[in-house]
Amino acid sequence: MSKHTPTEHDILDAISQRWSPRAFSDKAISNNDLNKLFEAARWAPSGFNLQPWRFIVCKQGTSAFDKLIGVLMETNQTWAKTAPVVVLAASQTTLVAEGKPTRPNGYAQYDLGQAVANLSVQAMSMNIYVHQMAGFSKDKADEAFAIPENFNSVVTFAMGYLGDAGSLPEALAEREALPRERKPLSEIMFDGEWDNS
Ligand SMILES: Cc1cc2nc3c(=O)[nH]c(=O)nc-3n(C[C@H](O)[C@H](O)[C@H](O)COP(=O)(O)O)c2cc1C
Repeated sequence: MSKHTPTEHDILDAISQRWSPRAFSDKAISNNDLNKLFEAARWAPSGFNLQPWRFIVCKQGTSAFDKLIGVLMETNQTWAKTAPVVVLAASQTTLVAEGKPTRPNGYAQYDLGQAVANLSVQAMSMNIYVHQMAGFSKDKADEAFAIPENFNSVVTFAMGYLGDAGSLPEALAEREALPRERKPLSEIMFDGEWDNS
Protein backbone atom coordinates (compact mmCIF):
# COMPACT_ATOMS: atom_id res chain seq x y z
CA MET A 1 0.00 0.00 0.00
CA SER A 2 1.51 3.30 -1.03
CA LYS A 3 0.25 6.46 0.63
CA HIS A 4 -0.63 9.63 -1.20
CA THR A 5 1.94 12.23 -0.24
CA PRO A 6 0.99 15.63 -1.66
CA THR A 7 4.50 17.12 -1.99
CA GLU A 8 4.69 20.74 -3.13
CA HIS A 9 7.94 20.04 -5.00
CA ASP A 10 9.71 17.00 -6.43
CA ILE A 11 11.81 15.15 -3.84
CA LEU A 12 13.52 11.76 -3.58
CA ASP A 13 11.13 8.78 -3.78
CA ALA A 14 12.68 7.30 -0.63
CA ILE A 15 11.51 10.40 1.25
CA SER A 16 8.06 10.89 -0.29
CA GLN A 17 7.17 7.18 -0.14
CA ARG A 18 8.24 6.70 3.49
CA TRP A 19 5.50 6.50 6.07
CA SER A 20 5.03 4.85 9.47
CA PRO A 21 2.91 1.70 9.20
CA ARG A 22 1.57 -0.47 12.00
CA ALA A 23 0.97 -3.62 9.93
CA PHE A 24 4.12 -5.61 9.18
CA SER A 25 4.45 -8.83 7.20
CA ASP A 26 6.18 -11.78 8.85
CA LYS A 27 9.11 -11.59 6.40
CA ALA A 28 12.38 -11.28 8.33
CA ILE A 29 15.00 -8.63 7.56
CA SER A 30 18.24 -10.38 6.57
CA ASN A 31 21.40 -9.70 8.58
CA ASN A 32 22.96 -8.27 5.45
CA ASP A 33 20.11 -5.75 5.08
CA LEU A 34 20.22 -4.91 8.79
CA ASN A 35 23.92 -4.14 8.40
CA LYS A 36 23.14 -1.82 5.48
CA LEU A 37 20.51 0.05 7.51
CA PHE A 38 22.86 0.71 10.42
CA GLU A 39 25.68 1.53 8.01
CA ALA A 40 23.43 4.35 6.74
CA ALA A 41 22.90 5.48 10.35
CA ARG A 42 26.65 5.30 10.98
CA TRP A 43 27.40 7.86 8.27
CA ALA A 44 25.14 10.56 9.67
CA PRO A 45 26.84 13.81 10.64
CA SER A 46 27.24 14.66 14.34
CA GLY A 47 28.59 17.50 16.46
CA PHE A 48 32.39 17.12 16.82
CA ASN A 49 31.88 13.79 14.99
CA LEU A 50 31.10 12.29 18.41
CA GLN A 51 28.62 9.77 16.95
CA PRO A 52 26.69 9.61 20.24
CA TRP A 53 24.16 7.06 18.93
CA ARG A 54 23.89 3.41 19.96
CA PHE A 55 21.31 0.87 18.82
CA ILE A 56 20.15 -2.37 20.43
CA VAL A 57 18.67 -4.47 17.64
CA CYS A 58 16.09 -6.99 18.86
CA LYS A 59 14.89 -9.68 16.49
CA GLN A 60 11.47 -11.35 16.67
CA GLY A 61 11.66 -14.63 18.59
CA THR A 62 14.44 -13.55 20.96
CA SER A 63 14.21 -12.65 24.64
CA ALA A 64 15.59 -9.18 23.80
CA PHE A 65 12.61 -8.64 21.48
CA ASP A 66 10.14 -9.60 24.21
CA LYS A 67 11.97 -7.37 26.68
CA LEU A 68 11.74 -4.33 24.42
CA ILE A 69 8.09 -4.98 23.56
CA GLY A 70 7.51 -5.21 27.32
CA VAL A 71 8.61 -1.60 27.92
CA LEU A 72 6.45 -0.11 25.14
CA MET A 73 3.14 1.59 25.88
CA GLU A 74 0.28 -0.84 25.42
CA THR A 75 -1.02 1.00 22.32
CA ASN A 76 2.37 0.49 20.65
CA GLN A 77 2.73 -3.11 21.88
CA THR A 78 -0.46 -4.09 20.03
CA TRP A 79 1.11 -3.64 16.60
CA ALA A 80 4.88 -3.45 17.20
CA LYS A 81 4.97 -7.05 18.45
CA THR A 82 4.30 -8.23 14.87
CA ALA A 83 7.37 -6.47 13.41
CA PRO A 84 10.39 -8.66 12.63
CA VAL A 85 12.75 -6.21 14.36
CA VAL A 86 12.41 -3.61 17.11
CA VAL A 87 15.24 -1.31 18.09
CA LEU A 88 16.13 0.67 21.20
CA ALA A 89 18.12 3.80 20.33
CA ALA A 90 20.19 5.54 23.01
CA SER A 91 22.41 8.59 22.96
CA GLN A 92 25.47 9.58 24.94
CA THR A 93 24.41 12.41 27.21
CA THR A 94 27.82 13.61 28.37
CA LEU A 95 31.13 14.33 26.71
CA VAL A 96 33.85 12.13 28.08
CA ALA A 97 37.55 12.98 28.42
CA GLU A 98 40.11 10.55 29.82
CA GLY A 99 37.30 8.20 30.76
CA LYS A 100 35.45 10.83 32.82
CA PRO A 101 32.24 12.69 31.95
CA THR A 102 33.05 16.38 31.42
CA ARG A 103 29.94 18.29 30.27
CA PRO A 104 26.53 17.52 28.76
CA ASN A 105 26.40 16.95 25.01
CA GLY A 106 23.48 19.19 24.10
CA TYR A 107 23.35 17.81 20.57
CA ALA A 108 23.28 14.09 21.37
CA GLN A 109 19.57 13.62 20.70
CA TYR A 110 19.75 15.82 17.61
CA ASP A 111 22.58 13.68 16.26
CA LEU A 112 20.73 10.45 17.07
CA GLY A 113 17.71 11.81 15.19
CA GLN A 114 19.85 12.40 12.13
CA ALA A 115 21.17 8.84 12.30
CA VAL A 116 17.62 7.44 12.50
CA ALA A 117 16.54 9.69 9.61
CA ASN A 118 19.42 8.34 7.50
CA LEU A 119 18.39 4.80 8.42
CA SER A 120 14.72 5.47 7.59
CA VAL A 121 15.48 6.80 4.13
CA GLN A 122 17.94 3.96 3.42
CA ALA A 123 15.27 1.52 4.62
CA MET A 124 12.62 2.97 2.31
CA SER A 125 15.00 2.64 -0.65
CA MET A 126 15.10 -1.09 0.27
CA ASN A 127 11.30 -1.33 0.66
CA ILE A 128 11.68 -1.63 4.45
CA TYR A 129 9.44 0.51 6.66
CA VAL A 130 10.43 2.11 9.96
CA HIS A 131 7.94 3.24 12.63
CA GLN A 132 9.49 5.27 15.44
CA MET A 133 7.98 5.27 18.92
CA ALA A 134 8.46 7.59 21.86
CA GLY A 135 5.68 5.71 23.62
CA PHE A 136 7.77 3.59 25.93
CA SER A 137 9.18 3.79 29.45
CA LYS A 138 12.71 5.17 29.23
CA ASP A 139 13.44 4.24 32.83
CA LYS A 140 12.33 0.67 32.30
CA ALA A 141 14.30 0.43 29.02
CA ASP A 142 17.46 1.84 30.65
CA GLU A 143 17.13 -0.75 33.41
CA ALA A 144 16.09 -3.72 31.27
CA PHE A 145 18.96 -3.21 28.83
CA ALA A 146 21.55 -2.04 31.41
CA ILE A 147 22.17 1.22 29.55
CA PRO A 148 25.40 2.74 30.94
CA GLU A 149 25.29 5.83 33.16
CA ASN A 150 26.28 8.38 30.51
CA PHE A 151 23.77 7.11 27.94
CA ASN A 152 19.97 7.46 27.84
CA SER A 153 17.26 5.64 25.94
CA VAL A 154 15.72 8.14 23.51
CA VAL A 155 13.47 6.35 21.07
CA THR A 156 12.41 2.91 19.90
CA PHE A 157 11.46 1.83 16.41
CA ALA A 158 9.86 -1.11 14.66
CA MET A 159 11.06 -2.14 11.21
CA GLY A 160 9.91 -4.56 8.57
CA TYR A 161 8.12 -5.10 5.31
CA LEU A 162 4.60 -3.84 4.82
CA GLY A 163 1.84 -6.16 6.03
CA ASP A 164 -1.92 -6.38 5.65
CA ALA A 165 -3.75 -3.55 7.42
CA GLY A 166 -6.74 -5.91 7.73
CA SER A 167 -4.79 -7.85 10.36
CA LEU A 168 -4.90 -4.85 12.74
CA PRO A 169 -7.64 -3.99 15.25
CA GLU A 170 -10.27 -1.88 13.45
CA ALA A 171 -9.29 1.49 14.94
CA LEU A 172 -5.65 1.03 13.93
CA ALA A 173 -6.57 -0.29 10.47
CA GLU A 174 -8.53 2.92 9.84
CA ARG A 175 -5.52 5.05 10.80
CA GLU A 176 -3.40 3.08 8.34
CA ALA A 177 -5.50 4.43 5.47
CA LEU A 178 -5.40 8.11 6.54
CA PRO A 179 -3.64 10.47 4.12
CA ARG A 180 -0.28 11.89 5.17
CA GLU A 181 -0.30 15.54 6.17
CA ARG A 182 2.29 18.24 6.65
CA LYS A 183 2.30 21.96 7.38
CA PRO A 184 2.67 23.96 4.18
CA LEU A 185 6.18 25.04 3.18
CA SER A 186 5.10 28.67 3.67
CA GLU A 187 4.59 27.99 7.40
CA ILE A 188 8.03 26.51 8.05
CA MET A 189 10.38 28.23 5.57
CA PHE A 190 11.00 31.94 6.03
CA ASP A 191 12.80 34.28 3.66
CA GLY A 192 15.42 36.13 5.68
CA GLU A 193 13.18 36.99 8.64
CA TRP A 194 10.70 35.29 10.97
CA ASP A 195 7.25 34.70 9.44
CA ASN A 196 8.23 36.11 6.04
CA SER A 197 7.11 33.26 3.82
C1 LIG B 1 10.18 10.81 17.92
C2 LIG B 1 8.95 10.11 17.38
C3 LIG B 1 8.11 9.47 18.26
C4 LIG B 1 6.98 8.79 17.78
N1 LIG B 1 6.22 8.07 18.66
C5 LIG B 1 5.20 7.29 18.19
C6 LIG B 1 4.51 6.39 19.05
O1 LIG B 1 4.82 6.26 20.25
N2 LIG B 1 3.50 5.66 18.52
C7 LIG B 1 3.14 5.74 17.21
O2 LIG B 1 2.23 5.03 16.78
N3 LIG B 1 3.80 6.58 16.35
C8 LIG B 1 4.82 7.34 16.80
N4 LIG B 1 5.55 8.14 15.95
C9 LIG B 1 5.18 8.20 14.52
C10 LIG B 1 4.58 9.55 14.14
O3 LIG B 1 3.27 9.64 14.65
C11 LIG B 1 4.61 9.72 12.60
O4 LIG B 1 5.94 9.74 12.15
C12 LIG B 1 3.92 11.01 12.17
O5 LIG B 1 2.54 10.95 12.46
C13 LIG B 1 4.08 11.26 10.68
O6 LIG B 1 3.59 10.18 9.94
P1 LIG B 1 4.50 9.46 8.83
O7 LIG B 1 5.76 8.98 9.52
O8 LIG B 1 3.65 8.31 8.35
O9 LIG B 1 4.80 10.46 7.76
C14 LIG B 1 6.68 8.81 16.39
C15 LIG B 1 7.55 9.46 15.52
C16 LIG B 1 8.68 10.09 15.99
C17 LIG B 1 9.65 10.74 15.02
